[in-house]
Amino acid sequence: LEISSFVAGLPKVELHIHIEGTLQPALRWKLAQRNNIKLRFKDQEYNTYEELLESYRVTYNHRPELGGRKDVPTFLEAYFAGCEVLITEDDFYELAMDYLKMCQEMNVRYAEPFFDIQAHTRRGVPAEHVLNGYLRAQKDAADQYGVRSNWIFCFIRDESVADGEAAYETALPWAKRPGGKGLFHAVGLASNAYERPPNLFANAFARAKKDGLHITTHCDFGQKDTHEHIRQAIFDVGIERIDHGLDVLDKDELVTGLVDKNVGLTLCPHAYHRRTATEVLFPKLRQLLDHGVKFCINSDDPVYMHDVWIDGNMEKAYHYGGLSKKEMVQLARNAVDMCWADEDMKNTIY
Ligand code: ADE
Ligand code: ZN
Repeated sequence: LEISSFVAGLPKVELHIHIEGTLQPALRWKLAQRNNIKLRFKDQEYNTYEELLESYRVTYNHRPELGGRKDVPTFLEAYFAGCEVLITEDDFYELAMDYLKMCQEMNVRYAEPFFDIQAHTRRGVPAEHVLNGYLRAQKDAADQYGVRSNWIFCFIRDESVADGEAAYETALPWAKRPGGKGLFHAVGLASNAYERPPNLFANAFARAKKDGLHITTHCDFGQKDTHEHIRQAIFDVGIERIDHGLDVLDKDELVTGLVDKNVGLTLCPHAYHRRTATEVLFPKLRQLLDHGVKFCINSDDPVYMHDVWIDGNMEKAYHYGGLSKKEMVQLARNAVDMCWADEDMKNTIY
């Protein structure tokens, strides 16, 4: 699907992107050489750049525990394999600068990227390499590209809660309080949600809130126990946004809860379109609009999802969702409204 000049020109705000999911094969290849790391994934080795490139052409499996095939790797396995080349502060800096440069090219004015700490510390990488690399990129990209960002610390939900809390404690000196400076201003919950409901992290979220941070959680589309996860997120944890959450449409009380509490959804249409028929998926956007549920369009992990970025996701909503230009502008404005930038910055995004 070609990006229209209308979508290309829209001023954009990205609220659902995992920075590790923007690691492009060219940088992955370069860092593997620089850090002397063999590129491999499961039983495969990538000995040439062409072999590496070829590996991105697949559609990764939906999780086997949800009925997917066991012989096709899952998306998360590929994503964490990609992370293996990231070692030094400069590596993380380059990853972030590459992404924020793309933001400038796509007219993304402001972004709130997710980052995983535990994906790196569990490989022996010091948390400071991650945090200082992103912090430096946050500043340089604002200066050089005019792309501002406030970042979101993610708990890896299939690691223990204690491990997540320890990572949070380590990262806290890099947190940004309202009106202050710092890398991240919110915490999120990502990775494999299987039997890892939001309530497990209720104390961790409460702690972050007490520390003056915003809170959000993934409730992936088609997830096992998805309605219960969404219910907990809205009513028990008191989450401010939901990442994905498209399954709310099945339950009136969830739709009402979102609308009453003004909780918005950060949707990533292409992520669902990989495994959902067009005629099943895209009418849901219209239904959300009809119910008055606030949402915006985002990209999730573009490099592992056929290189479809925020503009491609918006084009899909525009084209397959049959939305008008006016409605597309409203979705772009929803992202401004849903973002957690300080008011003075918010006023300069549009
Ligand atoms: N972490 C990074 N990308 C993710 C995704 N698409 N779903 C869940 N956790 C993630
Ligand atoms: Zn995500």
